[in-house]
Amino acid sequence: MKVLITGSTGLLAKGFEETAESGHEIVGVHKRDYRVADPRMKHLHLDVSDAAAVDALFNEHRFDAVIHAAGMASVDAVEKNPEEGRASNVGGTAAIARAAKRIGAYLVYISTNAVFDGASPPYAEDDPVSPIHHYGRIKLECEQAARAECPEACVARPILMYGWNHAVNRPNPVSWIYEKLIKGERIPLVDDVYENPLFNLQCGKTLWSLLEKRPAGVFHLAGATRINRYEMGLEVARVFGLDADLIERVDSSFFPSIAPRPKDTTFKTHKVQTVLGIEPMTLAEGLAVMKSTMGIGF
Ligand SMILES: NC(=O)c1ccc[n+]([C@@H]2O[C@H](COP(=O)([O-])OP(=O)(O)OC[C@H]3O[C@@H](n4cnc5c(N)ncnc54)[C@H](OP(=O)(O)O)[C@@H]3O)[C@@H](O)[C@H]2O)c1
Repeated sequence: MKVLITGSTGLLAKGFEETAESGHEIVGVHKRDYRVADPRMKHLHLDVSDAAAVDALFNEHRFDAVIHAAGMASVDAVEKNPEEGRASNVGGTAAIARAAKRIGAYLVYISTNAVFDGASPPYAEDDPVSPIHHYGRIKLECEQAARAECPEACVARPILMYGWNHAVNRPNPVSWIYEKLIKGERIPLVDDVYENPLFNLQCGKTLWSLLEKRPAGVFHLAGATRINRYEMGLEVARVFGLDADLIERVDSSFFPSIAPRPKDTTFKTHKVQTVLGIEPMTLAEGLAVMKSTMGIGF
């Protein structure tokens, strides 16, 4: 398969390339102007909201499948600047989906758990959506834009992801907690926001299974452990043998964040288990793999 993945230097794309079997060609695009040396993927600079540049890319390459993960992904950044968030996410998704349709490529649009308000977990794929901030509403618009262009597209909704991120990109809760504890810094973590976090390598394997089976419709991607951020911190300290006393238990009122966060967006994982045969990993299993692969990667 020749696959395009947008957002090539993000955590999701890293999980995707690290779980690739040999024989596939992966082309990735990211926005900022830096070069990445990567034997597994050819990285190109491209702003997905530039429709002409997207068209030129699809004229040059005949992709069998496209995973569209690029866009402004910080909830607070989008809340501060929703128009930029919309241009990057909705504009980019429309351009990519149109181009995928033109060449007949299978499209997987990467959405989010933030399309739910967190009031009635656990969430299945056909539960009603009700985003509570700009980012959630914009990602929902993207789902609609992708399916309007490509009715046979798949919408994959990953929940909070963790794993070893690329050095050039933002940390995730586990890599952030690990860095802080290694430095001996105290960290406040909230005990009132719940998810079942997704290891990026499990996410990668699930994406490859989607590309193989090519289903249409929505899939929820999540791990097997429902947990809050405070408990997650304790688990990171335990697995990596770090000082759990540095972790302070707080609730969400401690962080006057710009955007309100849904309290519990735990996903049901029945569909990926039955349709794709993917068994969700526990947090302890994901962290054990991270510990065993420290220093490996980029
Ligand atoms: N991480 C999570 O916990 C999580 C949870 C739910 C859903 N998701 C979804 O999963 C997807 C991937 O997230 P991630 O965490 O892997 O992302 P990430 O680590 O924040 O990386 C974002 C990637 O997108 C690229 N990008 C941003 N705007 C772009 C644009 N206009 N054109 C081209 N590339 C652009 C960035 O390129 P540069 O490096 O050049 O800036 C980078 O490669 C996103 O759609 C996000 O909404 C993530």
